[in-house]
Amino acid sequence: MLAIAILAAGKGTRMHSNLPKVLQKLAGKSLIKRVLGSCNDLKADRCIVVVGHKSDQVKQHLNKLSKIEYVLQEPQIGTGHAVQKLIPLLEDFAGDLLVLNGDVPLLKTSTLKKLISKHKSSKADVTFLSASLSDPKGYGRVFGNREGIVRKIVEDKDCSEQERKNNLTNSGVYCFKWKALRSVLPKLSSNNEQNEIYLTDVIKNLPLAMHFCVENSSEVVGINDRSQLANCEELIQIELREKWMNIGVTFIDAKSCTISEDCHLGRDIIIEPQTHIRGECRIGDNCIIGPNTLVENSFLGNNVKAVYSVIKESNIGNSVSIGPFSHLRPGAVIFDNCRIGNFVEIKKSELGKGTKVNHLSYIGDSKIGKEVNIGAGTITANYDGYNKNKTYIGNFCKTGANSVLIAPITLGEGVTVGAGSTLTKNVPDGSLAIARSKQLVREGWQSKD
Ligand code: UD1
Ligand code: MG
Repeated sequence: MLAIAILAAGKGTRMHSNLPKVLQKLAGKSLIKRVLGSCNDLKADRCIVVVGHKSDQVKQHLNKLSKIEYVLQEPQIGTGHAVQKLIPLLEDFAGDLLVLNGDVPLLKTSTLKKLISKHKSSKADVTFLSASLSDPKGYGRVFGNREGIVRKIVEDKDCSEQERKNNLTNSGVYCFKWKALRSVLPKLSSNNEQNEIYLTDVIKNLPLAMHFCVENSSEVVGINDRSQLANCEELIQIELREKWMNIGVTFIDAKSCTISEDCHLGRDIIIEPQTHIRGECRIGDNCIIGPNTLVENSFLGNNVKAVYSVIKESNIGNSVSIGPFSHLRPGAVIFDNCRIGNFVEIKKSELGKGTKVNHLSYIGDSKIGKEVNIGAGTITANYDGYNKNKTYIGNFCKTGANSVLIAPITLGEGVTVGAGSTLTKNVPDGSLAIARSKQLVREGWQSKD
């Protein structure tokens, strides 16, 4: 039997944030979801999250994840106290308990599997992950012998000067025999520099404690402050970019770009400087994205070019050209070979194949057919102050510069709209619609006495 406990009750004082520390994000995903993610494949029988500071917010955040049990730690007076709160829940439990700090976001499942199997084969009361760090500041130090048997862990603040030189650190990831841990938990005290009940103090009371040193110490970085958060983000980004470079994506200035873990990139894509791909995205082959472009939760086909633009929750076909300075808002559906030019905003609208909206337009709540030419400055006036209304524009239409189409309105197929028109009525197929005042010319006006 395996139970997992994630300690997520702390405030995260060193973050100086209104957000509970475990809700801070890395590459768009919270620390706590990352820790839970690393436990996903362990097939644990129970998964308990210890909450405390802003517990409702943390629970709400994890709302959709099933099978999580919560226990409240109030007040938050240390990691040992947090684990003491598990006692009533695990009264009849007899297996192993994997305890993870909620601020260790880069752990790999394979490392946890190794920890569990080492724990089983060593028959120790606890086996935990350690790391040998060049800068161990802030971490608890591990003291033991060459065989990996641990005598004690001393927190950074409680270390003597000599002890602080030890660079073998505790990672905050432990596999305990629950019964053994259960029996020593009541013995913990807060007689230390921080007046906290430390989980790490159980080590000296357990008959056999062992550690095992992770191969890659960056897997067990703990996030306590913003600079650790930034360093960790960088580690994730480096790994993600490497992954995509290895399968055919070019980054022009890799360090200036960020991508999410939930995106899928095709081959021969060029990501130009200052480009960010967030959320769940799929980008096809031969696309050129950027410079200075944000793509979020969107799908792009092959051969798409997007420059200096923002694309959110949109669906883009093949060979579409976007930008410079286009804004595709949620619900933009753009079919193949369209062109969307400078200072064009498109919201919740569909553009048929080969349609062009090249300059200075707002297209909202509209369905536009194929091969349409939307003239410079054309606006679909979709909002009447109360409701959003729809505009339909048939295939092969052409709107003149500065047309305003007041929705609800339908232009049939092959309609031409004269420049400067403000249309309020539907226009049948093949017609010309002009709605503007006639030009008046008075010759010799200035010389008139
Ligand atoms: C802890 C370890 C330290 C280790 C380091 C690894 C202790 C005493 N120290 O220190 O040996 O090197 O992690 O990153 O355990 N939490 C609660 N309730 C509390 C306090 C904390 O649930 O009362 C949670 C926090 O939300 C956090 C985790 O426990 O997710 C660790 O707490 P943190 O304050 O970050 O401990 P560290 O000082 O990093
Ligand atoms: Mg920490």
